[in-house]
Amino acid sequence: MRFSRRLDHLPPYLFVEISRRISAKRAQGADVISFGIGDPDLPTPAHIVDALISAARVPANHRYPETDGLPSLRRAIAHWYEARFGVSLDPDKEVLPLIGAKEGIGHAGLAFLDPGDVALVPDPAYPVYAVGTMFAGATPYYLPLREESGFLPDLRSIPPEVCRRAKVLWLNYPNNPTGATADLGFLEEAVAFCKRWDMLLLYDNCYSEVTYDGYRPPSILQVPGAKEVAVEFHSLSKTYNMTGWRIGMAVGNPSAIHALFEVKSNLDSGIPQAIQEMAIAALTGPQGYLAQRNAIYQRRRDRLVGVLRQIGLSLTPPRASLYLWARVPAGYTSGEFATMLLEEKDIVVTPGRGYGVEGEGFIRLSLTLSDEDLERAVRRLEGWRIPPRGQ
Ligand code: MLT
Repeated sequence: MRFSRRLDHLPPYLFVEISRRISAKRAQGADVISFGIGDPDLPTPAHIVDALISAARVPANHRYPETDGLPSLRRAIAHWYEARFGVSLDPDKEVLPLIGAKEGIGHAGLAFLDPGDVALVPDPAYPVYAVGTMFAGATPYYLPLREESGFLPDLRSIPPEVCRRAKVLWLNYPNNPTGATADLGFLEEAVAFCKRWDMLLLYDNCYSEVTYDGYRPPSILQVPGAKEVAVEFHSLSKTYNMTGWRIGMAVGNPSAIHALFEVKSNLDSGIPQAIQEMAIAALTGPQGYLAQRNAIYQRRRDRLVGVLRQIGLSLTPPRASLYLWARVPAGYTSGEFATMLLEEKDIVVTPGRGYGVEGEGFIRLSLTLSDEDLERAVRRLEGWRIPPRGQ
């Protein structure tokens, strides 16, 4: 049998590979502690789970859902955007519920790109922006995110001939994997850039509610006129500890939302309605939980930053996102350092190279493990003298 050539050049999905390594180590009897995938350890709040339990008993929810979701969910999303960002959305034209943001991000290539087109993709980045681009037969043009520029791309340095060919620009702040944030000034610059070059701005804002030190990240749609060129992806996964339930949304430019709807209606059968009811409960219910949850992550962040610095890694504590992005000691590649942590300390981190060439030299640590595991990892790391490379 012969399969699609598009799979030939695809590396294994980063977290599939990491799960495989964790399983192999555990099979040898190791007590592995993972700072790998950003998958909240804390449970979905009880009132949201209760909504699922009630909705599961309603026979109407046992049938096919509509592609564009329940009108009540679209309205709940629009109200949430108004309350959180002061952004007003037409729930029937500017909101599309998704089976997790990853579904929309992965399908965006099919909706917006043709073979031969170019997509501007940050490096390092969540791998799905580039993979979705390649699945559509288009080519990513990588925008380096460097520490000295606050991990923001330099849009002015992109050659005009690339800008003319590019149809979309991907951006993601608070950023995965670097934990960097972008202020409204940078978002204004990005919107102006996309208007100038007639590009669609695809803004992944999945981490906007995981924040520290009082920081409140903006939405791209707060930029005046952004809806002319922008779509924002959001997810309930990280906001409400709902990764397992798979629900998110795309909001913004109505033509682009409709294009995503067309791809989606042909490829999937919508979000199970009982899960849509959970999302309504999450978006319209009490929000006080978020501050308590963020305080837990903030404590973990500070504990981990302390021990990483103590063993000689350099990093800036993030103001948002689930991730610490630490520079590995001189002489190590990110893969070598991650492997050494696994071999010597039974600790899993994500090598930065997995997010692109520019991620080389860094490791990513997710804060989504229990306080007990975090403390056990801290004890393993405290006082560790990292062997100089080559010993
Ligand atoms: C991550 O760890 O990068 C994310 O949890 C992956 C995802 O959101 O799909």
